[in-house]
Formats: sequence, structure tokens, C-alpha cells
Amino acid sequence: MEEISLTINGKNINCPQGTSILNAALENGIKIPTLCHHPHLEPVGACRLCIVEDEKSGRIMASCVTPVSPNMVIQTESPTIKKHRINIIRLMMANHPESCIVCSQGNRCELRQIAAELGVGQIDLYPMPHYTGLEEANPFIIRDLSKCILCGKCIRADHELVVVGAIDYNLRGFKSRPATVHEMPLEKSSCTFCGTCVSLCPTGALSLKNTRYVGSPQKESSTICGFCGVGCSLVMGSVDGQIIEVNPSHKEDTVNRSTLCVRGHFAHDFLNVSERLTSPLIRRDGELSPATWDEALEVVAKGLISIKKKNGPQSLAFLGSSKCTVEENYIFQKMARVILGTNNVDNGSYGSEKAVINLINEKLIGGDRIKPLSGLEEAEIIFVIGADPTQSVPVVGYYLKRASRIKGIPLIVADPRKTGLVSFSSLWLPIAPHSDCAMINAIAAILYKRKSYDAGFIRKFTEGFDLYSDGLSSVDLKKVSRVTGLSIELMEKAADLIEGKKIAFVIGHGIMQQRYGTLAMDALLNLALMTESLGGDGRGIYLLARENNQMGAWDMGAAPDFLPGRQSLNNDIIRKHWEQNWEVKLSPDPGLNIIRMIEEAEKHNLKALYIMGENPIRSLPQPKRISNALNNLELLIVQDILDTETTQLADVVLPGAAFSEKGGTFTNLEGRIQSFEPVVSPPGEAKPDWEILDMLFDTMHYFKKYSSLQEIRAEIINLVPMYTELGRNGEESWIKECSNIRLFHPDGEGELIHFSPVIKTGDERSDKDYPFTAILGSLRYHLGGGTRTGYSDRIKAFGLKGEVEISSDDGARLNLKEGDTVRISSPHGSTSREVTMKKELRPGLVFIPIGFHNNDAMQLINLTQLGEADSPGWKECSVKIERLEEYQITDTGF
Ligand code: SF4
Ligand code: SF4
Ligand code: SF4
Ligand code: FES
Repeated sequence: MEEISLTINGKNINCPQGTSILNAALENGIKIPTLCHHPHLEPVGACRLCIVEDEKSGRIMASCVTPVSPNMVIQTESPTIKKHRINIIRLMMANHPESCIVCSQGNRCELRQIAAELGVGQIDLYPMPHYTGLEEANPFIIRDLSKCILCGKCIRADHELVVVGAIDYNLRGFKSRPATVHEMPLEKSSCTFCGTCVSLCPTGALSLKNTRYVGSPQKESSTICGFCGVGCSLVMGSVDGQIIEVNPSHKEDTVNRSTLCVRGHFAHDFLNVSERLTSPLIRRDGELSPATWDEALEVVAKGLISIKKKNGPQSLAFLGSSKCTVEENYIFQKMARVILGTNNVDNGSYGSEKAVINLINEKLIGGDRIKPLSGLEEAEIIFVIGADPTQSVPVVGYYLKRASRIKGIPLIVADPRKTGLVSFSSLWLPIAPHSDCAMINAIAAILYKRKSYDAGFIRKFTEGFDLYSDGLSSVDLKKVSRVTGLSIELMEKAADLIEGKKIAFVIGHGIMQQRYGTLAMDALLNLALMTESLGGDGRGIYLLARENNQMGAWDMGAAPDFLPGRQSLNNDIIRKHWEQNWEVKLSPDPGLNIIRMIEEAEKHNLKALYIMGENPIRSLPQPKRISNALNNLELLIVQDILDTETTQLADVVLPGAAFSEKGGTFTNLEGRIQSFEPVVSPPGEAKPDWEILDMLFDTMHYFKKYSSLQEIRAEIINLVPMYTELGRNGEESWIKECSNIRLFHPDGEGELIHFSPVIKTGDERSDKDYPFTAILGSLRYHLGGGTRTGYSDRIKAFGLKGEVEISSDDGARLNLKEGDTVRISSPHGSTSREVTMKKELRPGLVFIPIGFHNNDAMQLINLTQLGEADSPGWKECSVKIERLEEYQITDTGF
């Protein structure tokens, strides 16, 4: 782009054509006051505070909306400008209520700050405050629009960043204010309570509702969100060592670009609850009672070592956590493998994606891991399958909505339900559950028939296409239509949209936890390969991660079958490398995953389980079965931050620090490695998990002692090639692609990627005793099983019931009305919930939100893995529905 030269305040400046005067000034260290500008929003020139003067022409202009021109001579602080700016502020203040002293924004109000900088104090203008009522019925946001200066940042945040459209300008002129449709309260509007508008509002017009404290934080510190795999950058405000508010970071290059979702913004109040664990506990005479750290660690060390001596290392198992840091998962699995000699290691995200990750790793030989979300806004077409990111990972939802609505990128959504993304899509494929594999193969077959592939590319970089294409030729579209419930026309339409384009696939738990998940993923990898959609920007497979450090936990080898760096345990060369470094002999045999751990505990073969940061009784299927299995153990050690269903059964409880109370690193779903520092101290005697593990190493007389987090990081950097950039300068970095294959290198170097043969899944046979298919999924207010969000006062105060969604047709057939309570039963258990009727839901389907009522939905699912492809099949199950009469409603959860 052409460079332009100009002068600002006597300083010669060069910048690309099209740059605004404001940005040119800011990039050169010249500050101009602003109120309606934000780097992530389109400039609108609403407040006029950023006015500057062109000395040559005498023109006064808003610098945020005026591009530089050659040889401009700009003054940002001339007497004329200062006079105008003061007048603008005086007018705004005259329109403002006189309640600054009690305003919750206090010294952070930008209007007040700028007024002070400009020396504007008492206003001699006739005051014209615009009083409006305070809106504070919801537990998240307070609106006091009498303090609104009409900068429009909230509306632009709502439209441009989170693409919800809950608010817009209402009325005109003096009376104009941001409002919902028909001025409804926020909780009755489409607002998702992401709070993005609040964090951008420059005055006290929008503020966070705080249930425990008032006033401004004493300290603000940057960290990373403790909830989902997006890993949003946050700024946490604290008073007296307690987190009192959370806002998005406004740095330009973060993954969340100044947005958050309701969980990140408002649910971190769970960190302050009285159910936090504050001292070690040991079970004595059947009761958990406080103990010193030395006593607790002695019981743990002696117990583990003596059980190993008596029953061998396979009688021990270790469940790490997708919520604990990279460093903590690394030393956790090291304790299992090196000190206690077992590969029985897993982490809490087993059910989420392990089988699918293994398949992708195997097929792409570990390549194509880095997937910046910004690529979605550059994509040619996006295909979302089995995912509702607007609920599960809302910031990914924002990317997708922006891609569609703002960038005009076509979006295909395949989902049995009409999810929040459907209204943004070019095509909705309302597919029957379990039939994604058949649908993907059918679309590939249509493209193959149209010869929509590059034979030269396929010859040069792939193998197995002949067998694959034979399979495609025999795909029977009529049969697929019957299995998927999609008309052939719809599948043809999908092929029309895809033809000639490289695809960005967004894959969620609908595939990753589905019974035929790996088959569907194999079919999808074939389609991605045929359409050249792997190995580049704005294309490939974006796997959604539910937990914040899901990726990091796998990368650190908190898994039964691979070592740190996702390196295979049964590769002799790799194992030897680790044996030399850790000075130990490693078993090549994969250990037990969490399901097998439970099964072995049921058979009394597993004697001890060490759980760090997980609550399997709430997060896994069949909670009663899990409790019984845990009760069979000789030693259950639970290290956690909260008192949970699982700590209640433990023999020893070790109180850990939450992410905001320790340093560490999370790796997000893009492959972004984000290190952070503590914001506050842990409560009571709680300690960071890595410190607890390190103390335990000492108690077990292991020779290696880590005296700091940096020492653990140094070992990871040294031994795990993907993480050589870990924690450098405390900055974020990216994992390194360490694959041997160089995907589609122009020289044709590297290994060929192979097509798998087409595998056809059969018709699902319906069970006449359990005629409905229940889909289990997230609502944005709870993360996963809801252990942490269930403790949030704000989320609780919002009072969601987690109603079961049922189609209006089925509702009428079962004589149900809105709000009735039903019993939902599967062969494995039952639960009861209120119902809500959905017109657009396919008859025969019901949707049960997870995370509510102690995550009771998991009672319906069978723990044991289902299906030939080793996918856990926890996403759906067959159920029956019965209406409960009033006298039968004894327990509808709480
Ligand atoms: S509510 Fe706040 S952000 Fe919205 S227009 Fe008013 S002052 Fe600006
Ligand atoms: S909280 Fe979020 S969704 Fe609601 S109005 Fe503000 S920006 Fe829009
Ligand atoms: S999208 Fe995920 S990481 Fe971001 S604020 Fe929400 S829960 Fe936190
Ligand atoms: S910042 Fe430029 S007009 Fe408001």
C-alpha cells in the first residue's frame, strides 16, 4: 500500500494510505482524547472529541474517521481545538446527572477523566440531565442510561463484535438512547449477557452487577479465562485478595478481541464461594477432618507406595485435568509414569475428543495443529458439523457470525437442532442423529460425480484415492436421504456451495462424542483431502475444546497411550528418548483410560486413584456407578479447588489454587500457548497444584525437585519440541508444528496422506421401549458438568431451569403443555425436568441441556464405550418420556 507523509504536532510521520489521522498519531505516540473510538470497532465519529486541526486549510475534523492525506500539517492541541474540546465536554456534562460521586464507574469513567484532564469542573451551562430509570432486574448488568453519552460503542459491540443485535438506537435527538426492541428488559431480549457492551461503555451508563461488593477494584491484573477452550484474555479486578470483577482485555491481538461470554464475564464469582477448599483433609473414623500438609502428603505418599508394593503399579491410576495448567499436567503424568511406574493416566476431557484426536494425529502424522480463529474470517466457506459454538464456546460463535454476517462467507450448518447459528447460515442441514458420516460421504460422492477435484493434486500428495472413489461411486443417495432425513436436493445444495472452494470445518461434540464419531471424522478427513482443505490458512479442521486447557493436557501426555508432545508410547525410539531423560524404564503398554479405570475399580483390581481437578461423579455418565466404583478403592486422593461430589468420597483431599491464584500456562483450541501470573493468593492453606505435586515428589523421595514454575517450564521446553516457545518472556506463543509431513509442499516432499475407504453406517433401528432420541448439549450459562458455574451466585440468581426441549408435535401427542414436568428414562437411569415445546425440533428428538440439576442428564447415558469406533457415544441416547402428575413430582433437581 502506498505510504503517505504528513506532519502531526511538528513530527514527520509516514503511514500507509487509508490510515486514520487518529491511528497515525497513536502509532507515533501522540495521544488524542477519544470517547467513541475503540480499535476493534468501526469508527463512526460520534463524540467529536478527537477533533484535530489541519494548519494548512484551517479545517477541523474528527481524527478517527478522517484518513491521512499527503502533506497534511495536523495540530492536535491547538488553542482552537482545546476550546472546542472543552465545549464538547461541557455539553456532555450538562446532559449528565450529578451522581458522579456515587457512580460505580468512579475514577474509571472516561468522561470524568477527560473532563479532569481538560480542566472542566463546575458547569455553568443550564443542566439538562436526562433521567431514566435504573434497570437492574437481571443479575449481570445494570443500565443507567441517564449517564449515556450516545457514543454508540455498546451498539457497535453488540452488532459488530458479538453479532447479537439485542440493542439499537431508540427514538431520535435528545431522547435517543440505546435500547432493546420495544424497550424490553435485557432478560426478555435476545441479549446473551456477554457483557461486551458493558466493558466498552466509557461512562457509568452500563456497569457490572456485583452481588458482593461495590466500588472500584484496588488492583487489575491480566490473565486467561478459566472456562472454555477459547482461552479469552481477561483483566480481573480485585479488592482485598478477592476477584470482584472481570473484563475482557482490550489488547489488539487477543483471541477474543475485547469480547467475552456470560461465563467468562460473570461466572468467575464462583472463585469466592465458601465451598472453596482451604486446608488438607484426611478421612479419620469415616469423617474428613483438617490435617497439616505434612500429614496429608505422608498419607498420600505412603498409601501409593505401599499399594504399588503389594499389588503392582497397575493397581494405581491418575486422572489429570483439562482445567489444570500445562506445567501441572506435565508433572502429574511424570509422577504416574516415573515415580509410580504406570501409564494409567488420563484427563477429564477423555470423553470429549480422544478418539477423534488420535485419528487426526494418525492421519496427519501430528501436522496441521495450529488453527488461528482469525482464519475463519478469511475462509472461502465454513461447514459447521455437530457444534453449537454460540452456546458451548461463544467466542467461536462470534467469529462464525462475523464471518457470515459481516464478511459474507457462506456457512453451512449440519445439526439436528435449529441452533443459534442457523439464522446466519446459507444452508441448514437438519440431519438425523448419528448420520453425519453418511451425509459427508454423500456430499463427497456428489462432488466426485461432478469431477470437482484436482486429479494432479491427488496424484502428487495422496494415496488410496482409487479405493475411496470406488466407494463414493457406490453411495446410494436415496438410502442416504432415508438415513439422514435430508432430501437429495439439500445435499446437492451443500455440494453447490462447496464446489471449487476450500473448506473450514468447525467440529464440535456432536461428532467428537458421537457413537460413530471417528467414522464421521474419517469421512470428513477424506472430504477435506479431496477438496484440498487441509494444510493452509482459513481451511482445515477447527476442533472445539470444551475445557480451557484440554489441548495442553493432551500435549503434556496426560493420556494413557501417549507421552508429552503427543508422542506414541509404543514407538521404541521415542520411549527410549524419554527413558534416558527421566532415568527410568517405561512400559510400552498403554494404560487405562478413565472408563477402564472405573471398570477396574468395580472389579477391585484398581486400588488407588489420584484425581487432580476433576469431578467425575458429576461429569461422567452413570454417577451412581462411578460413586460405587470409587467407594471400592483402598485410597482415593482428590486434589481440587471446590468441595464436590467426588471430594466427599475421598480419603485425602488436597486443596488446590484456582487459575487466578497461580502462575501457569493454558494452550487454547487454536494452539496458542498462553502463560499467566497469579492475580490473587489462594484461600487459606490452598496451594497451586504444581507446588502440591512437587511437595509430594519430595515426600516420596524422588530425586528431582522443582523449586519454581520456571524449572518445570525449562524441562518441558527442553524435552517437548512442540513447546520450545513455552512461557518465553511471559508472552503468549504458539505450539510448533513438529510433524514429519509437510502438508502439500510444492516440491511434493514429505509423506503421502491417504484416503480411507468409504465406510457406510447402517440404519439406526429405533427402540420401541425408548422411542425418543435425547441429544445432550450445553447452554452458554454452564460449562460442561457445571461444577464451577453451578457455584456462581449470578448464574444461580438468573434462575434457569434447563428445560427439556421437545417438538410441538410430540408435545401435543403426549398431551404436554409448556412447563409440565416429565420423567425422562433410558435403560440406564432416569431424571425429571420441566418441558418446553419447540416448533422447529424434529419429532422424535428431545434436547436436554447439561450442567443443570447436578448434571442429572448423565444418569441417562451408559458409561461404557459404545460402537465399534471407540467413540464414547455420550452425546445422545434413546429415552422414553412420561408426563408426571403433580403428586409424582418428588425430585425435579434444584
Ligand atoms: S450506554 Fe455507554 S456505550 Fe452505550 S451509547 Fe451510552 S455511553 Fe456509549
Ligand atoms: S451484553 Fe452482549 S448481547 Fe447483551 S446487549 Fe451487550 S453486547 Fe449485546
Ligand atoms: S468463550 Fe470461553 S474462554 Fe471466552 S469468556 Fe467465554 S468461557 Fe471464557
Ligand atoms: S473518537 Fe472520534 S468522534 Fe469520537
